[in-house]
Amino acid sequence: MHQKNLLLVLLLVVIGSIFYYLYNLKLEREQTESVSSTTSQLQAVFEAKVIPQLGALGRPARGNWTAKQLEAMAQSQRETGYNAWLSERISPERTLYDMRHRSCKKLDYPAKKLPSVSVVITYHNEEASVLLRTLSSLRSRTPELLLREIILVDDGSPTVDPKLKDFFQVKFPDKLRLHRLDTQVGLMQARVAGAQLALADVLLFLDSHVEVTQGWLEPLLSPILENNKTCTTPIIDTIDYENLAYRRGKPSRGFFDWEFNYIQLPLLKEEAVAMPAPHQNPIMSGGLFAIGRQWFFELGGYDKGLKIWGAEQFELSLKLWLCGGRILEVPCSRIGHLYREGSFKVHYTDKGKSSEEKLISRNYRRVAEVWLDEYKDKLFANMPHLTVIQAGNLAEQRQLKKRLNCKPFKWFLDNLAQDFLQVYPLKDPGDYAFGTLQSMSSPELCLDRTETEPSRPQLSPCSSDPTFPSKPEQQWVLTNRWELRSGFRCLEVRNKSVDVHVYQCHRQKGNQFWSYDTKTHQIVFGQNANARRCLEVEPEKHGVTMRDCDPNQAKQRWKFGYQNNERLKHFWDNVKTN
Ligand SMILES: *[C@@H]1O[C@H](CO)[C@@H](O)[C@H](O)[C@H]1NC(C)=O
Ligand SMILES: *[C@@H]1O[C@H](CO)[C@@H](O)[C@H](O)[C@H]1NC(C)=O
Ligand SMILES: *[C@@H]1O[C@H](CO)[C@@H](O)[C@H](O)[C@H]1NC(C)=O
Repeated sequence: MHQKNLLLVLLLVVIGSIFYYLYNLKLEREQTESVSSTTSQLQAVFEAKVIPQLGALGRPARGNWTAKQLEAMAQSQRETGYNAWLSERISPERTLYDMRHRSCKKLDYPAKKLPSVSVVITYHNEEASVLLRTLSSLRSRTPELLLREIILVDDGSPTVDPKLKDFFQVKFPDKLRLHRLDTQVGLMQARVAGAQLALADVLLFLDSHVEVTQGWLEPLLSPILENNKTCTTPIIDTIDYENLAYRRGKPSRGFFDWEFNYIQLPLLKEEAVAMPAPHQNPIMSGGLFAIGRQWFFELGGYDKGLKIWGAEQFELSLKLWLCGGRILEVPCSRIGHLYREGSFKVHYTDKGKSSEEKLISRNYRRVAEVWLDEYKDKLFANMPHLTVIQAGNLAEQRQLKKRLNCKPFKWFLDNLAQDFLQVYPLKDPGDYAFGTLQSMSSPELCLDRTETEPSRPQLSPCSSDPTFPSKPEQQWVLTNRWELRSGFRCLEVRNKSVDVHVYQCHRQKGNQFWSYDTKTHQIVFGQNANARRCLEVEPEKHGVTMRDCDPNQAKQRWKFGYQNNERLKHFWDNVKTN
């Protein structure tokens, strides 16, 4: 009897499940149908090419492309610096993997107390599919309550698809405000124009080629709520320009070096330990940040004398710190940024490359003159061309500095830049050695940074002058940062590999730490005494490799064009060796 009842119940459950499944199937179909029936023609125009699941979860967008498709991708990449063809085929609403630190997901923000934001996005000639993904990610990952509006400023793009405007109005009916500047005014003034239209208390500036991620906004707002002179920046992840994969970026402290390049240094020890708590960010990278509207305008927005782009992030960052504010990087907020291919140059003006370079140099000069005080000379020593450029009228900037009672640049160096000064000292001690690096066992051959295989150096016939070789690829410096550097490249050994690479210098020792043994003439890799290896020639391959150090091995003997023996004597004085 009992068994019969049990069987009956089981049967009913099975039948019920089947019905439930069929019902859901139908519901799903109905939902899809109702969506597709309201899909406007415009949507069809802009989303027709989308391939479902391509690039989902931020994975590399891979497919079985035909030769013709691959050519179309390459073509689009030549034109825009990223794979625009592929971008058109990835859903503007693709999913992303949640990369936040575990504890970020548990943080609770008082959404009702947080201020709402006006997102300001400026663009010039952005691809529609990329812009659309920026906007879609914003809409789907921003709490309704916190998003007052999106102000989209078109900075005089010569060609705008008129249908795009209509499409945006259809997709973002109540949140989006479009503002078109008929002639291009440049990044900074376009942002200010957008900010002037803003209604919310907090401005959130974004580039037009980003994807925001889950929970991105609240952590950026909370420090501003605490202190209204705070500017916050997210961790910037990378969207790959070739396959649009979403990759994890690292938390960092931003600076500029003594040639006004933006650089990033690792967190201070105590900051790393406190992760993911917000930490000081001396100089922001510039494209993505939140700031109180009132504070932004009290600081005068950007210097109106800065044109097109360049140094504006240095200006605003220095102004923030020196005039009573602060910048915090907030690791719980992550935004992906689509970086263009390294070699791709965007031209913002149609007046040609040299006129653009002049404008950027002028910006640099202005920022140095107003904010670096006597330290500007350090910059000018590396960039002498700046001293012959007219900076224009600086009276307004100097008045602002006075009015806001801003501190001198020395305060910034003393309080925020101790780690920076260790890596980029004010006074460079001399280098240890420079010139050609000549193999003593194959004296006709010198080390040459020209890459044979990707990132591998080679050996080539030596230039006649060993101290100042005519071939710059043969000019090597054993620097006071313990690098073996040629131009912007440094020798690097990865893990326990025997391969030697040339790679961008990072000034962090580690896999770019080199020394020279004046007695044995060996070029030695490695800081730690029991993990050192030596550079050895492979003349038959016209290459080099890493081997265990052997003072009797002639292939490990090298000669610099010039060596500073006095300095080399003290090479290990300030270096830990275990
Ligand atoms: C790609 O094409 C190859 C050969 O035609 C096939 O074996 C493979 O399954 C395809 N891969 C995908 C992801 O469609
Ligand atoms: C910050 O808040 C204080 C107190 O509410 C207010 O007086 C001040 O004007 C605000 N400053 C900025 C820059 O928002
Ligand atoms: C070096 O080793 C680490 C850990 O063993 C690994 O994660 C990394 O990918 C390796 N790097 C290279 C360039 O092989």
